[in-house]
Amino acid sequence: MSNILCIGAGYVGGPTMAVIAKHCPQHMVRVIDMNTDRIAAWNSNQLPIYEPGLEEVVNLARGRNLFFLTDENIGEQINWADIIFVSVNTPTKSFGLGAGRAADLQFWEKTARQILEYATTPKIIIEKSTLPVRTAEAMSQILNTNSRGVQFDVVSNPEFLAEGSAIKDLEDPDRVLIGGHNTPSGKKAVETIVELYANWVPREKIITTNLWSSELSKLVANAFLAQRISSINAISALCEKTDADIEEVAYAIGTDSRIGPHFLRASVGFGGSCFKKDILNLVYICEQQGLPEVAEYWQQVLTINEYQEARFVANMVHTMFNSLSGKRIALFGAAFKANTSDTRESPALAVCRELLEEQADLSLCDPYALDNARVDLGDLSEKIRFILDPYQAAEGAHAIAILTEWSYFSELDYQRIYDSMAHPAFIFDGRNILDHQKLFEIGFNIYPIGKTPLQHFA
Ligand code: UDX
Ligand code: UDX
Repeated sequence: MSNILCIGAGYVGGPTMAVIAKHCPQHMVRVIDMNTDRIAAWNSNQLPIYEPGLEEVVNLARGRNLFFLTDENIGEQINWADIIFVSVNTPTKSFGLGAGRAADLQFWEKTARQILEYATTPKIIIEKSTLPVRTAEAMSQILNTNSRGVQFDVVSNPEFLAEGSAIKDLEDPDRVLIGGHNTPSGKKAVETIVELYANWVPREKIITTNLWSSELSKLVANAFLAQRISSINAISALCEKTDADIEEVAYAIGTDSRIGPHFLRASVGFGGSCFKKDILNLVYICEQQGLPEVAEYWQQVLTINEYQEARFVANMVHTMFNSLSGKRIALFGAAFKANTSDTRESPALAVCRELLEEQADLSLCDPYALDNARVDLGDLSEKIRFILDPYQAAEGAHAIAILTEWSYFSELDYQRIYDSMAHPAFIFDGRNILDHQKLFEIGFNIYPIGKTPLQHFA
């Protein structure tokens, strides 16, 4: 039996620990966070994040072997634990060297120093936050300078869960990656973490590597996934100039088993807390290592993403007679993807900001993400109506823009919506989730991504 502590009860720490607690009733799991509101929410019926299936897992383990606590007694918590997962956020640095690109490691380092200050018995420290390659080594060095002779083993165990399917991804992962030092105690630490996951993950899916391979694999996996989206989005621009259809092209290439069908959905752009941050980080590392060509190659994945967002807005302006000033537009979706309340780096909010520049009159509609959107938009939120009901949001609007792929947006009564809108009525489907032909027949002018528009005028 082990005592497992997780520092950081966010989108990663919370769900991961809940699943570990569910499958390992023999271990005690505590999750701590400096944010007292967040901890209160984890202990209530209104969890701080929306994630399908999360509530069931939390309800099963909470109070049994899963506990959410504030970090006021962090020293005591650290001493209690044998295994410490560090899952604090590592945003892009906003100041000094590497600003706008490198990862801000202050929370990670602060946590490592707290561990160093309080620990009196050996610990395995697990790096769950995404970090630049070789951070674990630096942490190892900080930790092992302690004069009390306490043994610390740093292990990298990157998280591959995607929001919206976090519980499924944790329950049945493609793989679990564990990187450690090639020393006797490093190997023992890796084996301890392998044993932990082996409680529910088949052993052949648990990959062990050296520390740096594990750290780099996380950045590279996200860079490859984002690269596929930028690749298909680049081709969507070409499809719009020709008569090709991006969904037909994506299907045709995706059936090649070497390419595969996943992550080929053209969209208004990718968002989320990881893709942009991790690619910026990769670019920065490559530059630091004297590899400008490699850095530039990956930077282009982000450039195409920004281009896709800008292109979407430019298309709206151009289509709606070159002026959006004062026109009411309903934005369907604020979350960066469906099935999450998270709006970090959401393309929906990027579109929102650009449309405000055009002086459009905006209603923003989302089933779960409006609170986060309000916070992320800051002062701009005063200029926007936040409306839960899509029918109300669309009333009197000149256009609807679909920005998040929530399936319920495709199940609405669009005849009713059309009847309540200003005419001509436009739909810009930034996620290609609607039945375009049917909507065209109702009377809408339709502008999908990577397809010929369906319009009632030449
Ligand atoms: C974070 C990182 O963003 C990601 O790079 C990494 O892969 C996993 O951890 P996420 O869980 O989505 O992902 O972040 P967030 O939801 O912001 O949660 C981090 C939590 O850590 C916050 O609740 C924050 O209050 C807490 N925290 C941060 C602490 O408890 N102590 C600190 O010193 C810093
Ligand atoms: C990603 C990785 O998938 C996950 O393994 C890692 O741990 C964290 O980063 P996440 O950002 O939660 O997960 O969601 P993901 O499903 O990867 O979607 C990212 C963005 O890409 C979303 O905005 C989504 O809408 C967009 N996307 C995804 C597309 O535009 N097209 C696609 O085909 C797939």
